Amino acid sequence: MLLGLSVLSNITQADQPRPVYHFTPRAGWINDPTGLVEVAGTYHLFYQYYDGGWQLKDGRFRSPIEWGPMHWGHATSTDLVHWHQMPVALSPDRKVGSSEVEGMIFSGSAVVDRGNTSGFGSRAHPPMVAVYTLADTFGPGSGQRQAVAYSKDNGTTWTKYAGNPVLPYNNTETFRDPQVFWFGGKSKWAMVISCGDRVCFYNSPDLTHWTRVGEFGKAEVGIGVPWECPDLFPLQVTRNGKTEKKWVLVVSVQHGAPSGSFGNRYFVGDFDGATFTNSAPASDARWLDYGSDYYAARTWIPAQANLKQRISIGWMANWTYARTLPATTYRGSMTVPRELSLRYDGAGYYLAQRPAPGVLRTLSSRKASIKIDDAHRSKSITTSTVAELDVDFAVTNRSGRFEIDLFKTGTQYVSIAYDVPKAEISVDRRNYNGHRFETDSGQQTAHVTPRDGHLKAQVLLDRNSIELFVGDGKITVTDLIYPRNDRVQTAVISTTPRETRGVLQ
Ligand code: FRU
Repeated sequence: MLLGLSVLSNITQADQPRPVYHFTPRAGWINDPTGLVEVAGTYHLFYQYYDGGWQLKDGRFRSPIEWGPMHWGHATSTDLVHWHQMPVALSPDRKVGSSEVEGMIFSGSAVVDRGNTSGFGSRAHPPMVAVYTLADTFGPGSGQRQAVAYSKDNGTTWTKYAGNPVLPYNNTETFRDPQVFWFGGKSKWAMVISCGDRVCFYNSPDLTHWTRVGEFGKAEVGIGVPWECPDLFPLQVTRNGKTEKKWVLVVSVQHGAPSGSFGNRYFVGDFDGATFTNSAPASDARWLDYGSDYYAARTWIPAQANLKQRISIGWMANWTYARTLPATTYRGSMTVPRELSLRYDGAGYYLAQRPAPGVLRTLSSRKASIKIDDAHRSKSITTSTVAELDVDFAVTNRSGRFEIDLFKTGTQYVSIAYDVPKAEISVDRRNYNGHRFETDSGQQTAHVTPRDGHLKAQVLLDRNSIELFVGDGKITVTDLIYPRNDRVQTAVISTTPRETRGVLQ
């Protein structure tokens, strides 16, 4: 068994080669990670889940590997690599005497109610409380309302609160994905929730009574409405030698991200429990990832306050084509968990990302280092499709283009290239021997400058994906790739303007 990961034990022969260190469900469909909460060193990952057997309002039964009446699936991990599959946490209600859904369980969040403010447990045995959206559909008549459930056995079994909904349907199409957290500054619970073309803030003393206190995004929204899956968390940052605390607001946008469609935008600013003040001009868009397959990212609420870093995870897909990804028994995977830290570079605040340490430990025996400079114009190495490539582009000239071709078969490959004059890194999956994605945006680029003549990049391969971390992680690019063969030739090429492209075997 590759890397000895237990997550592989449920593979059937007919499946696509399953990622080894990325989370996939045993069977069924997944999308957003949700309810991310760490309890005493255990990371709980809930996720949007469906595996068949439910009838939607239109009367149709969806296939088990299609998006359908949403549940919350559940898995736990102590190292963010090996996942233990838990029983489904929350299922929709059914109409009495029918298989028709009464309210799907959309995305939301989970917290440990240490002070037992909700009264669902006790101070000695604090309950875990989930706050999520109940939805009948998307768009007009969506019926999107907020509900609460609690668990007294650490997330294994759940009881729906009898007083649901805690925030009723308000006739708006989009009112969903509440992210709830304890706001120490006011000794209250705070909620950030998508209200369509903005996010809204609510406060509560007890997780069941909520008051609207503010909103953000009217000026910033511009692209990508409705926003979905907001997250809001504090991080510390050093600016001009001084340490300060800032709040990071992440939203999932449906159009206009660097992928051309779905992506995650973030803002850095101040938050007082009710008002978020953006530190940057409204038009300054920052992106968590520049690839096609990074969406609905959220962060784990840490067990103990930790302002140095925050761990995030995203759904590794894009709604544009998620429903047609090659699949047999399951469809969908998560990105690797990533450590986020906040930095300041003179031009503004930004998030730096790196793979969670457990991921890198897992890959330590599958690591290849590649240096590309003008002297080594061309060489090739062969790796499996489960690997970490550490790349050093030694940029000595002001001209030229450095390129690595991955998943290479014949004349087809996926390229990662650095264009020196343009200072652009790109991933291009338009010409490889594998699954065709229903999108034209097969090439992503991001601006990045070398430091002291080097541009370092870390490439994580896991059978059907590439996650690229550039420099200090300010730029990441995540793309799904479904190659036809499981062994890849990784050809390394460095070209200057005088040379023609070619591959040495
Ligand atoms: C984002 C999203 C959420 C919603 C969920 C439904 O991918 O549309 O807004 O809660 O998926 O599955």
